[in-house]
Amino acid sequence: MTPKRIIIDTDPGIDDALAILLALASPEVQVDGLTIVHGNCSADQGTVNALSVLELAQAAHVPVAKGCSLPLVQPSLLAPETHGKTGIGYAQLPPPKARPAAQHAVDFLIERILAAPGEITLVPIGPLTNLAMAIRREPRIVEAVKEVVIMGGAIRHEGNTTPLAEFNTYVDPHAAHIVYHSGMPITLVPLDVTYQCILSDADVARLLEQKSPVAQFIADATRFYMEFHDEYQQIDGCIINDPLALALVFAPQLVDTETLYVDVDISGGASMGKTFADFYRMEDKAPNMKVALGVRPRDFIELFLERMEQLCQHISN
Ligand code: RIB
Ligand code: CA
Repeated sequence: MTPKRIIIDTDPGIDDALAILLALASPEVQVDGLTIVHGNCSADQGTVNALSVLELAQAAHVPVAKGCSLPLVQPSLLAPETHGKTGIGYAQLPPPKARPAAQHAVDFLIERILAAPGEITLVPIGPLTNLAMAIRREPRIVEAVKEVVIMGGAIRHEGNTTPLAEFNTYVDPHAAHIVYHSGMPITLVPLDVTYQCILSDADVARLLEQKSPVAQFIADATRFYMEFHDEYQQIDGCIINDPLALALVFAPQLVDTETLYVDVDISGGASMGKTFADFYRMEDKAPNMKVALGVRPRDFIELFLERMEQLCQHISN
């Protein structure tokens, strides 16, 4: 089976790093590039982290293009309390040998999507600043992209950054608004499903049975992330949002979706960045995306662990 060609737009970030590792461990996808955006950490730090994680996984051939460092309108909001000051928790990786692409992420996205109409699946798992800028710079990518699987939003679920809003949409709600209304073929993967996907201490202990620097990286990065989830949200384990979105590129059966009209609040009040769906079609607006609202969490976690074990066996101490 021909692998799906993907570009991951990411703010790596601990769960982003796990999504990148999952992609590299999955023969169903071919990673054509990583485009970096501000979010969990700065775009500069995220670029270093992306290059380092690729080298950890012996995938330094994958191009990395640095993108936007600030939201379109909102002030910068990073998340050191969640991902640590380096963005990868307690993990420590050697400085990368590879350099990022000279091209800006926005131009990288446009060039790669237009060069392969109908072939590139985008997986945005951070704030949508890069993608929004790419749409405005070159609207033809809307028709040329194959599919867009976005980690972001909270539909019926409470927010994780404000009481109402999820981090990726709250950090850059104007970018989300542009992307949601672009006409791109979107599947949204909100907190409604990701918050059911908890990686536990026992799951990490299982990976540590593999004597691999990849397992050690996952353990060190998620230890910080678990401490955050315990202290801030009394969750035992950590929510691995981004790997679920990545998995849906090749395992859509993990979730149940509804085709809905979804919008994001940019009015600037208490619900800034809140995403909402018109379930009862009260407004006469055509649906603009598929939304994952049901999930089989342990099937997903098992898939993630199996792929990580396989990656660890490939990259052993
Ligand atoms: O709200 C969770 C999302 O925000 C994830 O993508 C996480 O990495 C952060 O970017
Ligand atoms: Ca992310």
